[in-house]
Amino acid sequence: MSVQSSVKRVTTHVLSEMKLKGEKISMLTAYDYSMAKLVDEAGIDVILVGDSASNVMAGNITTLPITLDQMIYHAQSVVKAVQRSLVVVDMPFGSYQGNSKEALHSAIRIMKEAHADAVKIEGGSEIIESVQRILSAGIPIMGHLGLMPQSINKFGTYVVRAKEKEEADKLIEDAKLLEEAGCFAVVLEKIPAELATRVAANLRIPVIGIGAGSGVDGQVLVIHDMLGMTQQFSPRFLRRYLNLAVEIKEAVGKYIADVKSVDFPNEKEQY
Ligand code: KIV
Repeated sequence: MSVQSSVKRVTTHVLSEMKLKGEKISMLTAYDYSMAKLVDEAGIDVILVGDSASNVMAGNITTLPITLDQMIYHAQSVVKAVQRSLVVVDMPFGSYQGNSKEALHSAIRIMKEAHADAVKIEGGSEIIESVQRILSAGIPIMGHLGLMPQSINKFGTYVVRAKEKEEADKLIEDAKLLEEAGCFAVVLEKIPAELATRVAANLRIPVIGIGAGSGVDGQVLVIHDMLGMTQQFSPRFLRRYLNLAVEIKEAVGKYIADVKSVDFPNEKEQY
């Protein structure tokens, strides 16, 4: 029996057992009650309340505008729906970069007000003091390296990261630093598959990839992308499992036609 199928509730310990056994970890984002319920019931291991909510829920161009209060609102809705998956909540831009005290305060708010299982935070050596302080309060952290969308204004582009040796070396050091500090997992976004495989092989903690190839310990995608709701976003790493944008528009089109023609509601659909 797999580790995943034998557990009532996925914990950080379960994820580390999965890595030990070579069982891949599945992770998807969710931002609201209804979607989180479906994803949890389908058997996902980890639900990420990602700050990608800023893009797909709020319509912002970047993840920067979403606030801590808004992340907590999304997380509260997700946590209410989830019975089995581990719920990880992104610490939004501006909630941890100032200093480690502020970072701890933000992480405590997420845990206390949303009842999350863990937080996710972007960065390596630059934020290690905050990582240590949050961990010392007993709050589990998932790291995030490679393409870090909260730093898009510094990068200036969403192209593949760490292709050059200097950046790859820093990423390897940062991943080790996060593991040594006590993070339970790390996300690697949009980096060469060969580098991601090397990092996963050299860490004891699970490495979850997005655009990082198959040699890591698990995969994460944004649910709106994998369900085909976001039509403009088409990176090479994205596999679409549905074309919901088309299906939703067809359904709405039929509804409009039925309302206009007074086909809806019929006699059985009224009191
Ligand atoms: O916010 C998010 O959805 C993420 C994933 C892309 C890993 O951080």
